Amino acid sequence: MNGSYSMQSFKFVSEVKRDVWKDAGEERPVPSCCLSVSNISYTVSERLGPWWDLPSYKRRWTRQILHDVSFHVDSGQIMGILGNSGSGKTTLLDAISGRIGNSGTLCGEVFINGRKLNREQFQDCFSYVLQSDNLLSYLTVEETLTYTAQLALRKHSAEAIKKKVSAVMAELSLSHVAHSVIGGRVFPGISGGERRRVSIASQLLQDPKVILLDEPTTGLDSMTANQIVVLLAELARRDRIVIVTIHQPRSELFRVFSRIAIMSCGELVFCGQPEEMVDFFSQCGYECPEYCNPFDIYVDFTSVDTRSTEREAATFSRMHEITSSYQASAIYQSMLGRMEQILQQAEKPAIPFKSKESPSSAAKLGVLLRRTVRNLSRDRMGVLMRLSQNLIYGLFVAFFVMHLDSDVTKGAVQDRIGIIYQSVGASPYTGMLNAVALFPALRAISDQESQDGLYSKWQMFLAYIFHILPFSIISVFIFTSFLYWTVGMHPDSMRFLGFSAVVLVPHIVGELLTVVLLGVVQDPNMVNSGVALLNIAGILVGSGFLRSTEQMPQVFQWLSYLTFQKYSCELLIVTEFHGLNFTCSKPLPGACLISQGDQIIDQGYPGALSRYTLDFILLYSFLPALLLLGMASYKIRDYLVRH
Ligand SMILES: Nc1ncnc2c1ncn2[C@@H]1O[C@H](COP(=O)(O)OP(=O)(O)OP(=O)(O)O)[C@@H](O)[C@H]1O
Ligand SMILES: [Mg+2]
Repeated sequence: MNGSYSMQSFKFVSEVKRDVWKDAGEERPVPSCCLSVSNISYTVSERLGPWWDLPSYKRRWTRQILHDVSFHVDSGQIMGILGNSGSGKTTLLDAISGRIGNSGTLCGEVFINGRKLNREQFQDCFSYVLQSDNLLSYLTVEETLTYTAQLALRKHSAEAIKKKVSAVMAELSLSHVAHSVIGGRVFPGISGGERRRVSIASQLLQDPKVILLDEPTTGLDSMTANQIVVLLAELARRDRIVIVTIHQPRSELFRVFSRIAIMSCGELVFCGQPEEMVDFFSQCGYECPEYCNPFDIYVDFTSVDTRSTEREAATFSRMHEITSSYQASAIYQSMLGRMEQILQQAEKPAIPFKSKESPSSAAKLGVLLRRTVRNLSRDRMGVLMRLSQNLIYGLFVAFFVMHLDSDVTKGAVQDRIGIIYQSVGASPYTGMLNAVALFPALRAISDQESQDGLYSKWQMFLAYIFHILPFSIISVFIFTSFLYWTVGMHPDSMRFLGFSAVVLVPHIVGELLTVVLLGVVQDPNMVNSGVALLNIAGILVGSGFLRSTEQMPQVFQWLSYLTFQKYSCELLIVTEFHGLNFTCSKPLPGACLISQGDQIIDQGYPGALSRYTLDFILLYSFLPALLLLGMASYKIRDYLVRH
């Protein structure tokens, strides 16, 4: 069977999109930009065994994930990268977009218009659409794109941004859903295909010349997947380079791609035009049978089957045989020749960087704050829970205590201490629960957008923290207003304000500490446990309720100064007990020793009255200290997160 015969096998292929260069007789424009990738290799050092098998865990081996990958694409072309799972497609995109982890060694060169890019320039040149859509559920499509445009483009006026967003929506056929919300797991929004298009549109706002997309069709039905690829081909036709990794494309897409690359075990087994691919594989003796999907067949021919040692050896040698044939072929040589010609050019066009007129840090923070508030404030249930959660546990406490007595034999002292213990001990948990529920989604977005160069991760952290302040103040105020007056604490409005101001801090610290730890610990469950344990430890060491501070070993006494619980409890003890007089209805021996609240202060917290202002300052200084810690944590995250 020869090449021309095998071409006939694809007669059923739709001819609608035969070639992105020529559409209804249009002439091929001169490409304004080209991407050359030369000998990209990526090697990682891995441990031989799992940590529980110590001898093998201690030994390392070097694994090459990408082997000397080279290709060349001109603007106006769309290249599809195929290959079975684990063949290195994502790693290749990560490598050429400058997002590869620091754990391995990357070699090779990337050129745009024949000019070599340094690694810092990769991100400024390429737009990268990740496999998962990280979008805010409660924003509309237009709002999503407008906020991204505001973060990316500074010199543009509001009117220009509006026009840009409308143009991008029109280009991606999103205008009809401009005012629909994105949607999430718990409530419906736009379709999966539309969501993909919003992710692509967000990248187009910066006018990139090179767009990389990792599996943009995964999870979509086959018709929507086809529409996305055809749309990407249209984007490429407007003088852009589009590179897309794809699983199981339908055979109709065969001619939509201008170039098809096949990867296997980190090697580029083939890269060329669709027609060349058919001829090449036929010449190698691997025909695509009639009525079969060429994508599936050629990927199968080049994949390594690891189900048995014999099959692995046979398929591995077949893969190598095809790779060697490709490297000896005229297709590969002409690609190298074209690359060489571009590199040798005397007059090289400039590197087309993305629009990078980003606003000042303060302006970005403002945009992030507005975006976060708008998104979260539309979550009615979330807002309601946020505002009422402290009140709900206040109801439990009030129901349990009912009314505070002034009679020491009826729990006047113990009940008051119990309320203080609850107010300081429990309020960090509500803050922690909020952060664990809300922040990981924002963190995923900030990981992506910071790699797109829109802002730094710490700016998203600050925006989140600033946005919680009004919610926290209202929520704590509702709680204290209810509890304070219902159970009958010290009836003085200034003391009530003091009580509220003190309880506010543990609540915010709980949320703040959780968000800080989420910067360096990926798993929210671990952060949950960590904050809970820290809070338990803090209240044990700092409150002086379980064991008097004076009786604790010296090291715990020192540690107590590092806990916000120490200052909170001391302040609340003074707020409640100072100037309080008790009665005693059962004059049993020893029962009426305490007749004044100040005795409690003097015994348990000597000098607390004179430290009142200082305690307030120290308590509130936890907030800026944690803010600084958070900024450091999200700077560290910059190094930790490389997907
Ligand atoms: N930093 C790393 N350390 C160790 N192994 C890695 C690293 N990055 C990638 N790999 C390995 O390299 C191989 C290629 O991974 P990659 O994600 O690029 O494959 P893929 O072709 O995109 O697969 P899929 O189609 O399933 O998405 C995999 O076996 C993966 O485990
Ligand atoms: Mg992948």
